[in-house]
Amino acid sequence: MHEGDEIETIEGIGTPQALDPMQAAFIRHDGFQCGYCTLGQIQSARAVLDEIRANIPSHVTGDLTATIRITDAEIRVRMSGNICRCGAYANILAAITEVAEEQA
Ligand code: FES
Repeated sequence: MHEGDEIETIEGIGTPQALDPMQAAFIRHDGFQCGYCTLGQIQSARAVLDEIRANIPSHVTGDLTATIRITDAEIRVRMSGNICRCGAYANILAAITEVAEEQA
Protein backbone atom coordinates (compact mmCIF):
# COMPACT_ATOMS: atom_id res chain seq x y z
CA MET A 1 0.00 0.00 0.00
CA HIS A 2 2.89 2.38 0.57
CA GLU A 3 5.15 1.41 -2.29
CA GLY A 4 7.10 4.51 -3.28
CA ASP A 5 6.05 6.48 -0.18
CA GLU A 6 8.64 8.01 2.12
CA ILE A 7 8.39 6.41 5.57
CA GLU A 8 10.27 7.82 8.54
CA THR A 9 10.79 5.55 11.52
CA ILE A 10 12.07 6.45 14.98
CA GLU A 11 15.59 5.51 13.86
CA GLY A 12 15.48 8.35 11.34
CA ILE A 13 14.82 11.24 13.69
CA GLY A 14 17.68 11.40 16.15
CA THR A 15 20.79 9.80 17.53
CA PRO A 16 21.82 9.07 21.11
CA GLN A 17 24.17 12.07 20.87
CA ALA A 18 21.63 14.38 19.21
CA LEU A 19 18.10 13.42 20.16
CA ASP A 20 15.09 14.79 18.34
CA PRO A 21 13.38 17.43 20.56
CA MET A 22 10.41 15.08 21.07
CA GLN A 23 12.66 12.23 22.18
CA ALA A 24 14.41 14.54 24.65
CA ALA A 25 11.08 15.83 25.98
CA PHE A 26 9.79 12.29 26.54
CA ILE A 27 12.90 11.59 28.63
CA ARG A 28 12.62 14.86 30.60
CA HIS A 29 8.93 14.25 31.36
CA ASP A 30 9.11 10.48 32.00
CA GLY A 31 6.80 9.95 29.02
CA PHE A 32 7.18 6.19 29.18
CA GLN A 33 7.59 3.25 31.54
CA CYS A 34 8.14 -0.07 29.72
CA GLY A 35 8.81 1.67 26.38
CA TYR A 36 6.67 -0.68 24.29
CA CYS A 37 4.49 2.12 22.90
CA THR A 38 7.10 4.88 23.00
CA LEU A 39 8.36 4.69 19.42
CA GLY A 40 4.85 5.10 18.06
CA GLN A 41 3.96 7.75 20.63
CA ILE A 42 6.94 9.89 19.63
CA GLN A 43 6.34 9.51 15.89
CA SER A 44 2.64 10.28 16.32
CA ALA A 45 3.39 13.25 18.57
CA ARG A 46 5.62 14.78 15.92
CA ALA A 47 2.96 14.19 13.26
CA VAL A 48 0.24 15.65 15.51
CA LEU A 49 2.12 18.93 15.89
CA ASP A 50 2.72 19.08 12.12
CA GLU A 51 -0.98 18.38 11.52
CA ILE A 52 -2.13 21.14 13.87
CA ARG A 53 0.34 23.60 12.36
CA ALA A 54 -1.06 22.71 8.92
CA ASN A 55 -4.46 23.78 10.31
CA ILE A 56 -6.06 20.37 9.74
CA PRO A 57 -9.14 20.19 12.00
CA SER A 58 -9.98 17.38 14.43
CA HIS A 59 -13.21 16.29 16.13
CA VAL A 60 -12.64 18.84 18.91
CA THR A 61 -11.81 21.80 16.69
CA GLY A 62 -14.51 24.38 17.29
CA ASP A 63 -14.10 27.12 14.72
CA LEU A 64 -13.13 25.60 11.37
CA THR A 65 -12.37 29.03 9.93
CA ALA A 66 -9.84 30.06 12.59
CA THR A 67 -6.22 29.03 13.03
CA ILE A 68 -6.16 25.92 15.21
CA ARG A 69 -4.48 26.39 18.59
CA ILE A 70 -2.40 23.61 20.14
CA THR A 71 -4.45 22.71 23.22
CA ASP A 72 -4.57 19.68 25.52
CA ALA A 73 -7.85 18.64 23.87
CA GLU A 74 -6.40 18.85 20.35
CA ILE A 75 -3.36 16.81 21.39
CA ARG A 76 -5.43 14.23 23.30
CA VAL A 77 -7.89 13.54 20.49
CA ARG A 78 -5.18 13.33 17.85
CA MET A 79 -3.08 10.98 20.02
CA SER A 80 -6.09 8.84 20.99
CA GLY A 81 -5.12 6.03 18.62
CA ASN A 82 -1.90 5.42 20.54
CA ILE A 83 -2.56 3.18 23.51
CA CYS A 84 -0.14 3.05 26.44
CA ARG A 85 -0.71 0.09 28.73
CA CYS A 86 1.51 1.71 31.35
CA GLY A 87 -0.73 4.78 31.48
CA ALA A 88 1.96 7.38 30.89
CA TYR A 89 -0.57 9.70 29.24
CA ALA A 90 -0.14 12.70 31.55
CA ASN A 91 3.61 12.72 31.02
CA ILE A 92 3.27 12.17 27.28
CA LEU A 93 0.96 15.19 27.09
CA ALA A 94 3.47 17.24 29.09
CA ALA A 95 6.28 16.28 26.71
CA ILE A 96 4.27 17.14 23.59
CA THR A 97 3.11 20.43 25.09
CA GLU A 98 6.68 21.39 25.93
CA VAL A 99 7.87 20.73 22.39
CA ALA A 100 4.90 22.65 20.96
CA GLU A 101 5.76 25.63 23.15
CA GLU A 102 9.47 25.45 22.29
CA GLN A 103 8.69 25.41 18.58
CA ALA A 104 6.02 28.16 18.73
S1 FES B 1 5.26 2.92 28.26
FE1 FES B 1 4.56 0.89 28.51
S2 FES B 1 2.96 0.73 27.06
FE2 FES B 1 3.47 2.84 27.03
